[in-house]
Amino acid sequence: KVPVITIDGPSGSGKGTIASLLANQLGWHLLDSGSLYRLTALAAQIHGVDLADEDNLKVLAAHLDVQFVAATESEPAKIILEGERVERAIRAEDISLLASQVAAITQVRQALLERQRAFAEAPGLVSDGRDMGTVVFPKAPLKIYLTASAEVRAERRFKQLKESGFSANIDQILEDICARDERDMKRVSAPLKPAEDAIIIDTSRLTVTEVVTKVMAEVEA
Ligand code: C5P
Repeated sequence: KVPVITIDGPSGSGKGTIASLLANQLGWHLLDSGSLYRLTALAAQIHGVDLADEDNLKVLAAHLDVQFVAATESEPAKIILEGERVERAIRAEDISLLASQVAAITQVRQALLERQRAFAEAPGLVSDGRDMGTVVFPKAPLKIYLTASAEVRAERRFKQLKESGFSANIDQILEDICARDERDMKRVSAPLKPAEDAIIIDTSRLTVTEVVTKVMAEVEA
């Protein structure tokens, strides 16, 4: 059995950063499950599939033609969708919104389930998302749930967008984050919530290093 660590939480809780540092430190694979919802959203945009067209969204999700190329010493990680590099395009705000809308569709979530489980390969997997511990890997031995106040999360997202060269407005981001959280928590299929056996860490006042240290202590426990 391949060991899996699940890291769930709302946007801006630090999941992505922590999951990727942890995977690096352990030499394990990384699943950024949000990227699959973002890729489905981008594919829908490219192919002109409407949000209401759930059957075709499901087909898009099930047949995503995507390659994840891990970072090397000299090159950053790449995501290739239908032959084009899209790692920047999937981070745009319009795709964030669309991703959170397609993620509310049960058929889309089901279509992506097995693809996510296939990431669990030796020597281990760190998986980052909203339902990693509750739905995708319910038997994972270590489940972490990261939270932070909405203001802190908006601030982090603002910095991230700026660093990636997107223009950004902090008030708009806070509003968008709250709307996305609400959609994630209220949807019928796999709503965002901590697994019963998850360890909850509030990262509002912690540095990245402090969070990694806390999680590593659980890995070694
Ligand atoms: O984590 P990220 O912001 O990249 O995720 C994009 C969207 O995909 C989220 O707003 C959320 O609605 C959805 N998502 C999900 N389940 C996951 C990961 C992401 O519903 N496991």
